[in-house]
Amino acid sequence: MKSVRGLKLTVSAAIMAAAATTATASDVEVLHWWTSGGEAAALNVLKEDLSGKGVGWQDMPVAGGGGEAAMTALRARVTAGNAPTAVQMLGFDIKDWANEGVLGNLNDVAAAEGWDDVVPAALQEFSKHDGNWIAAPVNVHSTNWVWINKSALDAAGGKAPETWEEMVSVMEAMKENGITPLAHGGQAWQDATLFDAVVLSMGNDFYKASMIDLDPEALGGEQMVEVFNRMATLRSMVDDNFSGRDWNLASAMVINGEAGMQMMGDWAKGEFLKAGLTAEEDFVCIRFPGTQGSVTFNSDQFVMFDIEEGGDAQQAMAASVMDPGFQSAFNVVKGSVPARTDVPNDDFGYCGKKGMADLAEAGSNGGLFGSMAHGHAAPAAVKNAVYDVVTAHFNGEFEAEEAAQELVNAVEAAM
Ligand code: GAL
Repeated sequence: MKSVRGLKLTVSAAIMAAAATTATASDVEVLHWWTSGGEAAALNVLKEDLSGKGVGWQDMPVAGGGGEAAMTALRARVTAGNAPTAVQMLGFDIKDWANEGVLGNLNDVAAAEGWDDVVPAALQEFSKHDGNWIAAPVNVHSTNWVWINKSALDAAGGKAPETWEEMVSVMEAMKENGITPLAHGGQAWQDATLFDAVVLSMGNDFYKASMIDLDPEALGGEQMVEVFNRMATLRSMVDDNFSGRDWNLASAMVINGEAGMQMMGDWAKGEFLKAGLTAEEDFVCIRFPGTQGSVTFNSDQFVMFDIEEGGDAQQAMAASVMDPGFQSAFNVVKGSVPARTDVPNDDFGYCGKKGMADLAEAGSNGGLFGSMAHGHAAPAAVKNAVYDVVTAHFNGEFEAEEAAQELVNAVEAAM
């Protein structure tokens, strides 16, 4: 016989199990990591769009910028035989899951709506597997941005920096003015986001050779040593409490004037807009000095797991995500730019218009590259190896020369 306590546990387990399975065939259960203010606001645009089409939403948020924690949670769900219907995913992670043969096929909706013609090749690289559509790209973010508090910039001379040297002088001036020059959160993916931009600032060829081709000579050469020297300079511009800070709290420091700038993907713009700030008036967006005309990108895509029920809801969600009107409304709030080339820029602000123009320019001049920090340059094992070295160096474990050598070793071991 069960004890009363045992019975209570059994009953509450049954209630929890019932709650976990209330998703109907017309619902989508969506695993994502959009939990900051700006991200949640963008997600609402999607929820409302779907609800207008009779598709219900079961939320499975897993906090953690860059999505590492979300990917761990996903692995656990799939291993338990209980994959969510739809999952936010980046770059090489999509390829990995596609290779496991567990993703649904979106060819019908893609054909009906002509995705082939409007999604840029750089994104199709991740949205298709063996010629089949397996993901719906909702946006394009780029990581080589700097977001500067306008008053702090004015107090530091007023000129947005165009070169590394000018950037360092502006940050020095901000320090003298008594604020933290660089708002940063010490988390591996955030350190790596800075690293993306600094590597790109050494030139397109160098970014390609080191981050895409993983050429040991580029990974361990003199330019990489200079990259790590610059990372050390950036490290000297953060406050004492940077360790572990979430990226949106770093954005808040720039918003409230406690810090001068943040070097972060354009999801940070979602926070600025959510706080009611206006580009050019309250904040300034520039490309990381030395990367003008080039873009390191990442694209959030929704993959649909091959599950028994809910296929119609999945197809409806995929169609919604790719709708031109939705792509405009969503990306205006999210800070990103549309994943299709035929969406007008009318509703975007100054930085959004710039983001769209920069992406087109980079795409046509050979300056468009997948972001290492955000899973679009190399598979997760290599990305994690880069994270480890970049973070260890940022925290003072290696000198620049040592870090460059460690990078060669770590990447080689991960390949
Ligand atoms: C990125 C993702 C963005 C944004 C960011 C911070 O990896 O592509 O959409 O959410 O993480 O959470």
